[in-house]
Amino acid sequence: MAHQSAQGASMWSKNASFINGELHLAGIAASTLAQEFGTPTFFLDEAAFRTRATAWRDGLTAEFGEKAGHVFYASKAFTCTALAHWIAELGIGIDVSTGGELAVALAGGVDPSKIEVHGNNKSLSEIDRAVAIGVNTIVMDSLYEIDRIAEAARKHGKRQSVLIRLTPGIEAHTHESISTAHEDVKFGFSIASGAAWTAVEKIATLPELELRGVHCHIGSQIFGTEAFEIAADRLLAFMAKYRDAFGTELPELDLGGGYGIAYLPSEVTVEPSDVLPTIGKAIRQACAKYSLDLPSISIEPGRNIIGPTMFTLYEVGTVKDVLIEDGSIRKYISVDGGMSDNARTALYDAEYFACIAQRTSTAATSQSRLVGKHCETGDIIIRDIQLPSDVIPGDLIATPATGAYGRSMASNYNHVPRPPVVAVIDGKARVIVRRETEADLLALDVAKM
Ligand code: LLP
Repeated sequence: MAHQSAQGASMWSKNASFINGELHLAGIAASTLAQEFGTPTFFLDEAAFRTRATAWRDGLTAEFGEKAGHVFYASKAFTCTALAHWIAELGIGIDVSTGGELAVALAGGVDPSKIEVHGNNKSLSEIDRAVAIGVNTIVMDSLYEIDRIAEAARKHGKRQSVLIRLTPGIEAHTHESISTAHEDVKFGFSIASGAAWTAVEKIATLPELELRGVHCHIGSQIFGTEAFEIAADRLLAFMAKYRDAFGTELPELDLGGGYGIAYLPSEVTVEPSDVLPTIGKAIRQACAKYSLDLPSISIEPGRNIIGPTMFTLYEVGTVKDVLIEDGSIRKYISVDGGMSDNARTALYDAEYFACIAQRTSTAATSQSRLVGKHCETGDIIIRDIQLPSDVIPGDLIATPATGAYGRSMASNYNHVPRPPVVAVIDGKARVIVRRETEADLLALDVAKM
């Protein structure tokens, strides 16, 4: 496997390929893309996005038949109006966790009946809007919120369908900041402490709320199915307790997102057919154990759908050989973006792959660090990577699998304008989020001079 391209590795999207050593997306060469759209830029494999989203929807249907609920794409991973429009076209659902994400979903034409609203601290106006437009469901996260949603429902003369977010007490094997279902977290109601049961009893006193089921999200970038299987068992046990107390079964179970993707050549992206049959079997077994009918099953993949479909293209600006403590040389390769377009390395010690995108190199590799242009030592995209020793200013560098939590977590640190997102399909490229300009940055400043 050529180091430079790690061709065929699952971190590259379906329509990315290396032709004569140059990275292409859907038939367009990286050098052409860079020339036309500038760098840094996120390039999105539109056909791959559609394929991945559809695979989750079809996988859920194949596994659960008429009990397949919704695939709610977790739009926090990345969203924009065009993408929300694709979601609407594909007929899948969308998970929004803020009023801003809701606004984008609506702008893209997503029907409110396909929208699920999340958030551990939804504002009154977010709740009001969600109820007013008739979203599919609101996932409740605190006792305060139960009253607030009931009040909004009263005001609008509606009965609001809700789920309750549970923390099943699972340590998913992922970074602490993105693991969400152990006990000591801000999300959801603990099953073990009794908080979840208190919430259920409170909801039962409010006729404006229709409790349709339970939800959990155990974490992100998870490989394997064990944590999902345990979560499903604990949630179904809770649903059985509900049935015993209230004499009726809750019809919905939402297992959240979290399916892992490949960032490095050695990793393999989870595909729906790898996990859904095993999770489905565990759900059926738990239903049998607790004498429950199979509820309708929904999921919320974000990273797994969008992550593998984008790469970021940067241009190298400077290269510096630095003598480090062990007496060796580390090549610092600076590109024209950095922690403002990829915060994940700084925040979660995330690992990425990179290669020269527009040419081959037969030079020996050297220990390198890919860094950005920000005034901060921690502005690192890749801490340790072997890159050809002949990398020079003007080379294009591609980092694959930046679709999830890349552009969506981008910042304006150092007043660096955020990069655009360009969708590429069948040899055609178009901007779906334009590059920020200095004028955009200045537009928020209220000059009081
Ligand atoms: N559902 C809920 C309720 C969530 O909180 C999340 C992610 C998802 C679904 C989607 O999870 P996914 O399928 O994308 O793993 N910024 C971090 C990830 C934070 C995830 C937060 N919640 C990162 O860059 O790794």
